[in-house]
Formats: sequence, structure tokens, C-alpha cells
Amino acid sequence: MDDHRDRVGRDLAIPHDGFGDVFDQRALLAMLAYALEWANLLVRWLHVTAAIAWIGTSFYYIALDYHLLEPKNPAAEEEGVAGEAWEIHGGGFYRVEKYRVAPRTLPNPLHWFMWEAYTTWLSGFGLLIVLYYANASTYLVDRSVADISPAVAVAISVGLLIVGWLVYDGLSRALEGHDRLLALALAVVISVTAFGVSHLLSPRAAYLQVGAMIGTWMAANVGAVIIPGQRELVAAKLAGREPDPIYGIRGKQRYLTLPVLFAMLSNHFPLTYGHPQGWLVLLALMGLGAWVRHFFNLRHQGRVVWAIPVSAAVGVVVLAVAIAPRDVSTSVANVSFAQAQAVIARRCLPCHSATPTQSGFPEAPNGVMFDRSDQIVGRAQQIYQQAVVTKNMPFGNLTNITQEERDVLAAWVQEGAPVDGLPSPSGRGSG
Ligand code: HEC
Repeated sequence: MDDHRDRVGRDLAIPHDGFGDVFDQRALLAMLAYALEWANLLVRWLHVTAAIAWIGTSFYYIALDYHLLEPKNPAAEEEGVAGEAWEIHGGGFYRVEKYRVAPRTLPNPLHWFMWEAYTTWLSGFGLLIVLYYANASTYLVDRSVADISPAVAVAISVGLLIVGWLVYDGLSRALEGHDRLLALALAVVISVTAFGVSHLLSPRAAYLQVGAMIGTWMAANVGAVIIPGQRELVAAKLAGREPDPIYGIRGKQRYLTLPVLFAMLSNHFPLTYGHPQGWLVLLALMGLGAWVRHFFNLRHQGRVVWAIPVSAAVGVVVLAVAIAPRDVSTSVANVSFAQAQAVIARRCLPCHSATPTQSGFPEAPNGVMFDRSDQIVGRAQQIYQQAVVTKNMPFGNLTNITQEERDVLAAWVQEGAPVDGLPSPSGRGSG
């Protein structure tokens, strides 16, 4: 209960520090946290919308490329058309033609696709700032992983995005034309990064960092490879030169999307990043995502290989079994409610209270509060799940819970979550 008493002590000390100052500072901090919450909402909304537009177009063009057939009409062939596809969508027929390199005369208007990618990246980086960099000590740093300062953690995060791109760009230039070798090299880069960041940043930040690195490859590939290539095509056309077809070949990526999307969603799944070998779990899921993407790439070409989704499903089951929480046994016995409550007051109450004291947590997360004994008993099962089985709580272990204290909570719930010697109805049968 030390923290609890600390807090009361601090509250009592307020008048000595000058009541007005402290009050204003608190109100300001609360306001800032509230504003960041809104920024989070709006930027996330933008990010998801832009990403849907970007990935949607990208999936569409990948499928379209694979659907193209030799043009039936000899006149089209003469025009320089390489392939055509008929499509029906939204109640209309479409005929799409792709030119071998460029049409004879430059069409006007010509529609470009780039802002979907740029907006996704910019809003994604914005989210990193309002969520992870603004609260770096909470979200980015985990002292049980690496004892680094928030500033160092932010520098690592930003630096990795830049270095990651340079490495990607260098490799894709050096290995141009050797697609398999490049894929292998990138897989190695992703693995090394996943391993490295899992030893530097908090587990959830580590997952996001790997996703942000690959997402940066994808967005920068648009800005630094695809769009300049297209500009060159247009410039060549305008100057009456023959455009170099290499620009239509460079910069194709077909397997990164699903791995990135998982990394972006992973924060909802502590069972993945919370595993002691979280980086391997990440690589396994990313690999499975790329494998499933392969199924669709083949399917667009008219080859349906069911062995891929079947083996992917088997892979997921194997992974799920491999990382399933083990039975929790504890050496502690006959734990009283007071003992359990003391652990919760020390390690959980700083955040999970009507009046939280942990900086960066102006409100009880998810509305979960442990101020009263009935609130604790009512959530015995969840406490067990979060603090004992998955060890997802305390969040980032910011309150430094020990294994012995987890054992106390485990034993209390396993023994039926008794209050003052009486087993409570809600805790029964939970061991
Ligand atoms: C540093 C702040 C912090 C501390 C300390 C903390 N939590 Fe949490 N807790 C959170 C946050 C943030 C969430 C929201 C869940 C998320 O985003 O993963 C949460 C969510 C929860 C939930 C709800 C999970 C759900 O599925 O809705 C429970 C239960 C919980 N915490 C229990 C505990 C217990 C038990 C402890 C102490 C052993 C604890 N927490 C300590 C921040 C904290």
C-alpha cells in the first residue's frame, strides 16, 4: 500500500507547495492528455482511411496486372497495348488496357496515385508521435527490456526508420533483377530488426517499429522509385525520346502488405507481442501473411493452389499451440484478501483508480478500477488473466511488479478469490 499512502501524502502536501500552482499544472497536464487523445482519434481515422485507399488501389493494380490478356483487337496491338481486361463492377462494364511502355501521345488528364501512400505514411508517423513519442516513457520504453531514456528510445525509433530505408534502397539497387535473392535479403533484415528492437523497446513498440519500418519501405518506394520513374516516362514522352521500360519493372512489391497490416493491428493482441519470444512470433505471423498473399498472387494468374491456405492454417494452429499460456503453478498458499489487495494497491492502483497517479494516465484505463474491494473481487478472473497468465499487466510493467507478487495474485484467485476468509462467488472455480 506504499504507493497509496504516498499519494495521500502528496495530496496533503499540496498546500505547502502553493495550491494554485499545483492545481493549474495538473489541470494543464490533464488537458494535454485529453488533447492528445483527440489527436490520436483523428490521426488514426485519417491513417486507416488513407491506408485503405492506398492498399486498395495497390491490390487492385496487382490483380489487374495479372488479369491482363493479349489484346484481341489488332488495332490495339498496333497502338502499343500490351494487355487488356474486361471487368464488371458497381453495375458497369469496364475495359482496361495496359500499354507496353507508353501510349503514342501523352493523354491529358493523366491520373497519378501517390497521395494515398504519402498520407498513410505521414499520418502513421503522426500517430507514432502523439502516442509513442509523446508518452515515450510509458509506451516506448520498458525498463525490464532495456534501461534507456525516453529520448534515446525516440532516437532509436526514428533512426531505425531512416537506416531501414537506406538499407532497403541499397539492397534493392544491388540486387536488381534477382528477386528471390532480394526477398531473402529483406527477410534477413526484417528478422535482425525484429530481434534487435525486441531487446531495446517495449514489446508492443517493437512490433510497431518493425511494421513502421516496412511501411516506410513501401511509402518511400512510391516517393523515391515509382513516382520518379513515372516522371521520367512522361518526360521522355514529352521530349520525343523512347522511355526506358525498366521504370515499369522497378519498385514492384507484392508481399509486404499483409505482414505490415498484422504489425499495425498487433497492439490489440498481447498474446503475440507479450510472449517471451515475441520477435519470433512476429516473424512467424509475418511469414504466414506473405505466404497467404502468395496464394492471392497466384490466384490472380488463374492458379488456385489450395495447399497454401491449408498449410497457412496448419501453421497458425502450430503457432497457437506453441505460444499457448502454460499452467500457472505457484508456491504461495493461503493468501488473504489483504495480501492480494496490497499487491494491487502497489502495482495496479497507480493507473486503475478513479484518481490515477501514474503520469500519462489521466483516467483509469478501460474504466478498470481497483479502489474498492468489490471492484477487485468482481474482476478476479481478469486480474488473473492479465497479471498472471499473459503478464500483460501492469502495463509495460511500469510499476515493477515482481514474480512473487504475481504469485500472490495467482494463489489468491486459485484459492477462490476469498474476501476476509470467505470465498467470493465471482472468483469460484477460477483456478
Ligand atoms: C501503467 C499503467 C497501468 C498499470 C500499472 C496497470 N495497468 Fe491494467 N491497463 C492499463 C492500460 C493502458 C490498459 C488498457 C489495455 C491495453 O491497452 O492493452 C489496461 C487494462 C487492464 C485490464 C482490462 C483488460 C481488458 O481486456 O479490457 C485489466 C483487467 C487490467 N488492466 C488489470 C491490471 C492489473 C491487475 C494490474 C496490476 C497488476 C494493472 N492492470 C496495472 C494500464 C495499467
